[in-house]
Amino acid sequence: MIKKGIILAGGHGTRMSPLTKAVNKQLLPIYDKPLIYYPLSILMLAKIKDILIIINKGQLNQYKKLLPNGDNLGIKITYKEQSYPKGLPDAFILGDNFIGKNNVALILGDNFFYGQSLSKTLLNCVKLKNGAKVLLHKVSKPELYGVAKIKSKNKIISIKEKPKKYFSDLAITGLYFFDKDVVKFSKQLKPSKRGELEITDLLNKYKKKHKLYADYIGRGGAWLDTGSIEDFYKTSAFVSAIENRQGFKISCIEEIALNNKWIGSKNIKSAIKFYGKCQYSEYLKKLI
Ligand code: DAU
Repeated sequence: MIKKGIILAGGHGTRMSPLTKAVNKQLLPIYDKPLIYYPLSILMLAKIKDILIIINKGQLNQYKKLLPNGDNLGIKITYKEQSYPKGLPDAFILGDNFIGKNNVALILGDNFFYGQSLSKTLLNCVKLKNGAKVLLHKVSKPELYGVAKIKSKNKIISIKEKPKKYFSDLAITGLYFFDKDVVKFSKQLKPSKRGELEITDLLNKYKKKHKLYADYIGRGGAWLDTGSIEDFYKTSAFVSAIENRQGFKISCIEEIALNNKWIGSKNIKSAIKFYGKCQYSEYLKKLI
């Protein structure tokens, strides 16, 4: 079982400037909660309790105000600062001590997942013992993402980062599961032409060893991007539509912790105190 997870929540968020000049992108709102709640809730739904959040240098205080150490969620949150965006595999170099000899999940801080059988898929993914697993999702603009070509459902034959020419419409989402070799492999990578360590180069190391596996977010599930301002508003609208229709919140981290039996009503009460008089607290009140 994978018990450790990393959220990569740094980056300059240049495409969203000036919104991201003073505040990190992952702390900006997707409808009624900060973006970071969404990837955090995905790790929690995968029953991962030991979480490292990688953030930009100088932003630790901002994050700690919101998510101090995980106690109130029954989890453990630690932080590591990244001096500048060196590429996604840098997460495993920075996370070397955190990972140790364990397998690990990585989720990008700006990725949004939602769907009926998502928890089931996640609980299946954390069973990974050997190799690496990616979650694929069909998209209409594959040129914006890492893309995988498959032979049979679980066999990936080729992957490319943001291919200019059509190659496949299966995007590699920002949620990855790796065995313990990931630290060693990441340290062997060289920066690409754009000066970053590339996740596709890391995945290709596993593919060469025939150890790269695929799972899917099917058409009943949503994987949304929050890379641009337009995407931010579209994702907010999606969350708003579902939450207001159903009366349930998406990615209420306290609700997930309560359902996982990691916390009790005492913790919910202290969360209500922490958030103060707001709609989010009203929702928490209904849980207990
Ligand atoms: O969203 C899925 C896509 O994410 C994948 O399909 C691609 O294969 C993968 O390369 C990545 O592409 P992006 O262009 O979206 O990655 P971006 O540079 O925007 O970084 C994603 C998040 O990770 C973002 O919230 C910033 C954070 N980040 C990124 C880098 C490179 C860091 O915290 N540190 C970094 O060094």
